[in-house]
Amino acid sequence: MSFQIRSFDAYQKAFQKSKDTPDSFWRDIANSFEWIHPFSSIRNGTFNDAHVEWFRDGKVNITANALDRHLQSKGDKTAIIWEPNDPQEAVRTLTYTELHALTCQFGNALKSLGVQKGDRVVLYMPMTPELTIAVLACARIGAVHSVVFAGFSAQALHDRIEDAQAKIVITADEGRRGTKTIPLKETVDKALLNLTCVESVVVQKVTGIACEMLPNRDMYWHELVVGKPTVCTAEPMDSEDMLFILYTSGSTGKPKGVVHVHGGYMVYAGYTFSNVFQYEGDDVYWCTADVGWITGHSYIIYGPLLNGATSLMFEGIPTYPDAGRFWEVCAKHKVNQFYTAPTAIRSLMSSGSEPVTQHDLSSLKVLGTVGEPINEEAWYWYRDVVGQSKCPIVDTWWQTETGGIMISGLGGLSPQKPAHAGLPLPGIHPVLLDPNGHDILENNVEGLLCISQPWPSMIRTTYGDHTRCRNTYFHPFPGHYFTGDGAKRDDQGLYRIIGRVDDVINVSGHRFGTAEIESAINETSGAVESAVVGFPHDIKGQGIHAYVILDSKTGSLAEEDLCNAVQNAVIKGIGKIAKLDRIQFVSALPKTRSGKIMRRILRKVAEGEQTSFGDTSTLLDPACVDLLVSGAKQLQIC
Ligand code: PRX
Repeated sequence: MSFQIRSFDAYQKAFQKSKDTPDSFWRDIANSFEWIHPFSSIRNGTFNDAHVEWFRDGKVNITANALDRHLQSKGDKTAIIWEPNDPQEAVRTLTYTELHALTCQFGNALKSLGVQKGDRVVLYMPMTPELTIAVLACARIGAVHSVVFAGFSAQALHDRIEDAQAKIVITADEGRRGTKTIPLKETVDKALLNLTCVESVVVQKVTGIACEMLPNRDMYWHELVVGKPTVCTAEPMDSEDMLFILYTSGSTGKPKGVVHVHGGYMVYAGYTFSNVFQYEGDDVYWCTADVGWITGHSYIIYGPLLNGATSLMFEGIPTYPDAGRFWEVCAKHKVNQFYTAPTAIRSLMSSGSEPVTQHDLSSLKVLGTVGEPINEEAWYWYRDVVGQSKCPIVDTWWQTETGGIMISGLGGLSPQKPAHAGLPLPGIHPVLLDPNGHDILENNVEGLLCISQPWPSMIRTTYGDHTRCRNTYFHPFPGHYFTGDGAKRDDQGLYRIIGRVDDVINVSGHRFGTAEIESAINETSGAVESAVVGFPHDIKGQGIHAYVILDSKTGSLAEEDLCNAVQNAVIKGIGKIAKLDRIQFVSALPKTRSGKIMRRILRKVAEGEQTSFGDTSTLLDPACVDLLVSGAKQLQIC
C-alpha cells in the first residue's frame, strides 16, 4: 500500500505534506483503494458548514476493498481466526475466499428478505464470525448496519431500533461470556414490543436453546442461507452513502446515532490500521474489543480486512477460565499485535505477573491501548511484563465520531511516553483551545482538544438530527471539530489526554451520558430527581456515583431495597454495563438560583473532598454541601 509509513523520517515528511498540500496527501492515500468510479475532488465543505464531503462522485464499496481485492493474491490467507469462549471448543478460521463467499451468501439472504440499499439493519449479536459476516453483508448490498452491543438492555435496544427505523434485526439465541449465557433473542423480543418497523428477525443458533419464534417474522440464520448463491456483486455506493450508524452517548438523555460513510471511512480505517500497528506479512493481529463498539468496527473488521490482515476475534472474557486467558490465546495463535483497553490491563495486573509469564509471548511486536487514559503504573506493567520490555506501546486516542485513530504512536517509530497518546497521525491537526476559543500556544497547559482540519472518516451527521451534530461538534468553536476532551501537549509535541470535559462518564472505556443514567434512575418508583458523576476508580478508570432524591412515601422502606430498585432501573434502562458503583440518597442537590445543578460540587464530594469547594455563593442553599459531605460517609456501595 502506498500509504505505509515505515520510519520516523517518513512520518515527519508525511505529516508535513498533509499540512502543506492536504488534498494531494489524501488523494494519494485514497488512490491506494479500488474505486468503481473515480472521485472528482478530495473534499468539499468546511467545519463551519457542519458538512464536509469527501471524494465526491467516487463510487466504491468498502467490501470490494476488504474482500474481493485480496482474492487473487491472498484468497487462502486466513482473514478471521475465531477463538471461542470455551478454550476446549474448536477454533474456527475463515480464509479470505471463505469470508467472501459467506458474506455474499448472507447478502443474498438479506436481499431475499427485501432489504434494499439504504435500509437499516440492527445487529444484536455475540462475538461470533457471523457478526462479522452480517456486518460485511449489509455493507455489500448497501444496507446500513447498526450494531448494538449485546450487553444493552431491551429498553436501550428498543430505543436504538426505533431511532434507526430498522427493517431487520439479526441476533442469536444466546451469547456466551465466561460461565454465563446471555438471553439475546428473548431481549430482542422484549425490545420489539410496540415497534412496527421491524419486518424480520434472523437468529443465529449459538447455544441451541429453544427460542420462541414468531411466525412470519423470525427465522434461523442456517435455514435462511440454504440455497442462497455465494456470489453477490458489491453494490456501487456513492462515497458519501451511509455505511453504518453506531449509537454513542452524549450529554443529553438520548443516545446519538453517529453516521459514517463508505468512502472516507474506508480510506481512514485502512490507512490508520497499517501505520499504527505496523502490520506486515502474515502477522496475526488481535483486538480484544467487541464489535458493538467503534473499536471493533474499525480495528477488528474493516481496518485489518482492508489491509488483507489476519484478525483474531474472541468470543469470551479476559478472566475465563482464568486470568491468563488473554496470554494463553496470544501464545496459542502467536499473536503479533495486541490491542486492548486500560481497564482490562489494570484488572489483569491485579492478578500479578504469573498468569502472564507462564505463556510464551515472544511473538508480540506491538501492544496497543484504547478507550480511556492509561495510568503510568498500568503502562509500565503492560510494557515490561506483557511486552517483556521489547514491544512499543501505541496509546491510541480517538472516538466513535472520528471513525479511526487520531493521535497515537506508529508502532515503535515515534516517541513514546507513559500516559501520553503521543503525536497526531499525518493528516490530523489537533489544537488546544481555551474556553474562549483562543489557541493555547504554550506547552504543558491543559486545553480543550479540537481538530482544525477535516479528515475523511469524520462524523457526517447524527442520524435524523443534524442540528444536534452541528451543535455538539462544530458550533462550540467555529472552524473546529470539538472533541469533548481536555488534553495537554508537552515540549516534544506529545499529547496527553486528561479526560472528558462534558457530561460524559467513561467507565471501563465505555461512554455514558450523565443524563442518560439519570433518566433511567428517575424511572424508579419514588425517585424524584437524581444526578450522577464519575469518580476515580482503580480498575474501571471512572466509577459512577449517583445522588438520588426520594419522595416522602419511600421513608418507610429499607435503604437496601431502595438501592436495589435504583440499580435495577439502571439495568433495565441501559444494561448491566452501566451499573452504579455508589448510591447516595440526599435531600437536595446543589443548585444555582437558576436551577442548574453544580456538578463540580458533586464531583468533589464523590472524590472524597470535605472542605474545599471553591465559590459556593451562587448556590441557592450553600448549606446543602455539608449535608452531601456527611451523607457521603454512609453511602451505599453497590
Ligand atoms: O475521552 C476519550 C476516551 O474515549 C472517548 C471516546 O469514546 P468512544 O467514542 O466510546 O470511543 C472509544 C474508542 C475509540 C474519548 O473522547 N479515549 C479514547 N481513547 C483514549 C481516550 N482517553 C485517553 N486515552 C486514549 N487513548
